[in-house]
Amino acid sequence: MFRIKKFGWLFTISFIAVLAMNLLAGYGRFDHAIAQQSGGNPEKLTMVTSADYPPYEFRDTATGKNDIIGFDIDIAKKIAEELNFELEIRDTDFNGIIPALQSRRADFAMAGMTPTEERKKNVDFSEIYYEAKNTIVSQTGSNLKTPEDLAGKKIGVQLGSIQEKEAGKIAEKVQGVTVKPLNKTSELIQEIKANRIDAAIIEDTIAKGFVASNPDLEFNTLPNPEEAAGSAIAFPKGSERVDDFNRVLKEMKDSGEIDKLITKWFENQGKEESTGNATSSAASNSNFPLAAIMPSIPYIIDGIRVTLLFTALSALLGFIWGTILSLFKISTIKPLTWFANVYTSIFRGTPLLLQIAIVYYATPQLTGYDIPALLAGVITFTLNSGAYISETIRGGILAVDKGQREAALSLGVPYKPMMSDIILPQAIKNILPALVNESIALLKDSALVSTIGVADLLRRAQIVGAEKYIYFEPLLFAGIVYYLMVMSLTWGGYALERKLQRSS
Ligand code: ARG
Repeated sequence: MFRIKKFGWLFTISFIAVLAMNLLAGYGRFDHAIAQQSGGNPEKLTMVTSADYPPYEFRDTATGKNDIIGFDIDIAKKIAEELNFELEIRDTDFNGIIPALQSRRADFAMAGMTPTEERKKNVDFSEIYYEAKNTIVSQTGSNLKTPEDLAGKKIGVQLGSIQEKEAGKIAEKVQGVTVKPLNKTSELIQEIKANRIDAAIIEDTIAKGFVASNPDLEFNTLPNPEEAAGSAIAFPKGSERVDDFNRVLKEMKDSGEIDKLITKWFENQGKEESTGNATSSAASNSNFPLAAIMPSIPYIIDGIRVTLLFTALSALLGFIWGTILSLFKISTIKPLTWFANVYTSIFRGTPLLLQIAIVYYATPQLTGYDIPALLAGVITFTLNSGAYISETIRGGILAVDKGQREAALSLGVPYKPMMSDIILPQAIKNILPALVNESIALLKDSALVSTIGVADLLRRAQIVGAEKYIYFEPLLFAGIVYYLMVMSLTWGGYALERKLQRSS
């Protein structure tokens, strides 16, 4: 019979603590600071962006690093240098940018963002630093050139973008246009290729990149747009930094610095893209489907550490919490039983995805503590899986022969040692397959933390997709990795089961 020894627990708990510290220090913040080399103690300013928009902002995953690079980032760094502050960059979905400024989670935003009238009601803008135009991207040969050509078509746009507005206006004027808003620009491309939408409205600079790596697509510039698609820096309303930023932007325009960056990121894009294109078309010719994402594979694989640490932490903490809850449930103290039952019904009765969003977004609002995404994930998963595990353990305890309990009591063994040395070890042995099941579920559900921005396996696969303008390959690769991890867990579970069987 195996016993849960005191030292075992002590060890487990310190192990978890070390893991947790490691995890939160290393991965909890996916934002990164860029120190300025100026003297003194520069003030730190936080910038938000949406790194799904090459060449404005995206991640260079082939270097294996998680750094965000691009046109906007270079400008931000230059401004930080001129105004002598330390720059910290945070990533979010595009439609999370204005909320981040409003809640002052960030001091300014650069995301190829256009200063529209509507946005000006909620945030302040700098002068425009780059003009762009909108285009219609579609499959080669569809010949969609004007808004009128879009009659009866389904068109995709990025949620919360001015392209969504533009599409809305077209839909008012032109018969039968349906607008489909999606989160990421790369999803728009995928949907065109899959024929689920006929076209997407995308800014010209971005469209060029997509079309260069997808020969089956074409783009046509939209004539007479309702609104220009230029970019400006956004600030929280009333920010006193706008003038300083404008001054530096003007200096950069006058000195030709902006033009240099435009050439670096937009004009050379053709060349860089054509090399990128060479690899991706080589990939489509080769029989090895993952060739196109080869250089970024180490970057995706790095997500395994996040996924595994996250799962291990949540599984261990969830197990401890579940054990406590199950003891509440079989306890004779009524309020404890009620508490545990209500608790379980709430956590089993609502979607996990919703629980994550609530913990992550509501915590700062309620407590003022800007909870790191990873911590929010671990807390939610612990609370949620505790609810499920408590039921499993309760079942395990009830299944232990009643005689054992009676024998222990009649021998005068007190409650605690009876539980921890006699009942629980047997219960756990019986429910081991169920616990392995729960860990597998946790491992796969951990992918949900990608929705709040944790750079786990799935999130990294999506980031590579956005950078390379392809979707299927990185997701396929992540799928294979998940499957291998689940298989190892399954075999580990069998091995443990056999070991426990022998030791009884
Ligand atoms: N210029 C457009 C807008 O302001 C699209 C910007 C999208 N930016 C991004 N980083 N995804 O709505």
